[in-house]
Amino acid sequence: MVLKEILLRNFRNYNKLNLNFNKKANLILGPNGVGKSNLLEAIYILAFGRSPWAATNNDFINFEQDWSTVCGKASDRNIEIKVKFLRDGKKLVEINGQAAKSSSELVGIFTQTLIGHQEIDIVRGAPADRRKLMDIHISQTDPEYLEALGKYNKTLISRNKVLERLARGGVVGGKVLLSSIDDVLIEKGAYLIRKRVQFIEKIKSGCATFFQALSRDDSKLLIRYAPSFYFKEESQIEDLFQDNLNRNYSKEISSYRTLTGPHRDDLKINLGGRSLKRYGSWGQARSASLAILLASAKELADHFHSEPILLLDDCFSDLDDYHSQQLLELAPSIGQTFITSPKPLVLKPHQEGIIFQINQPGIVEMVT
Ligand SMILES: Nc1ncnc2c1ncn2[C@@H]1O[C@H](COP(=O)(O)OP(=O)(O)OP(=O)(O)O)[C@@H](O)[C@H]1O
Ligand SMILES: [Mg+2]
Repeated sequence: MVLKEILLRNFRNYNKLNLNFNKKANLILGPNGVGKSNLLEAIYILAFGRSPWAATNNDFINFEQDWSTVCGKASDRNIEIKVKFLRDGKKLVEINGQAAKSSSELVGIFTQTLIGHQEIDIVRGAPADRRKLMDIHISQTDPEYLEALGKYNKTLISRNKVLERLARGGVVGGKVLLSSIDDVLIEKGAYLIRKRVQFIEKIKSGCATFFQALSRDDSKLLIRYAPSFYFKEESQIEDLFQDNLNRNYSKEISSYRTLTGPHRDDLKINLGGRSLKRYGSWGQARSASLAILLASAKELADHFHSEPILLLDDCFSDLDDYHSQQLLELAPSIGQTFITSPKPLVLKPHQEGIIFQINQPGIVEMVT
């Protein structure tokens, strides 16, 4: 869904801002610290009701004010989203003037892929970053996934607490005490694993294609889901998950941690048959991360038959001219793209887009 217009009040360093966007490329340029990423953060809030970066809702409210709003309007359908933050930490979400029960109701409307500093390093980063990439994308296409993930994480915390109590001798009952917790963990966990395996299957060929387009490298990028326990068929997941929990019981008791499950899963990413994380250059790892993110955005487009939003926060600083140009062409071909950069960037004459320049903090000027 295309974001036609945004209205910000008391949001970070913007007192009042109203911008109309292009449906293809939107470049947000200006020196460090003027509020470029703040704008992307506001767009992200329209999709998820929270920031990718800030720890608390209070952070969004302008230092001098008591409340803040982010309002976004879509061009394809008559959709208007408003998120209001209050100083006491409360958040109010409205969709077309109707109060939403929770911000999870926003998920799936302005579907998005964020490519920032952390995301551009997902190949080299921690397994948790790669799980987050899958979780964020699958959640946007499947509300049940978001629910299963929340339930799984809560169950995991309870299970680890029980493991600790068992280890410390605070309770008796051993494994039996875990059985009802394990039932939920396995049911929700198996759902997450299946959906992730299917997601990786869907983006696999896109990853290889985007990698080639970005990098002029003929080696094949191969991405595979790497579960914490082996299974051949998806139908075996529940039984093998249970077997692994049983087998690891004594180890889990001594570490107070659940050692198998989707919270320990990862992705294997190979280039030309070798691990990219171990043997690849920084540039290759970056291109592969970008390819995986672009393929994930493309999957959102394929799923909804509607273009997603791509937020590219300061991704261009480490890319050479060829990579920068390729990314600048590829991203808007997938969906409406917002790009921030402290360095000048130009659109080719055939490219549709707008350039916004921020020279003074909080003051946005439209250049083209
Ligand atoms: N709640 C707030 N109220 C007012 N100003 C804020 C608030 N939160 C952050 N800022 C200001 O916003 C500015 C940072 O904005 P932002 O991170 O968007 O900069 P940027 O243009 O992306 O810079 P860079 O190029 O370094 O990434 C800082 O000057 C900071 O003081
Ligand atoms: Mg920034």
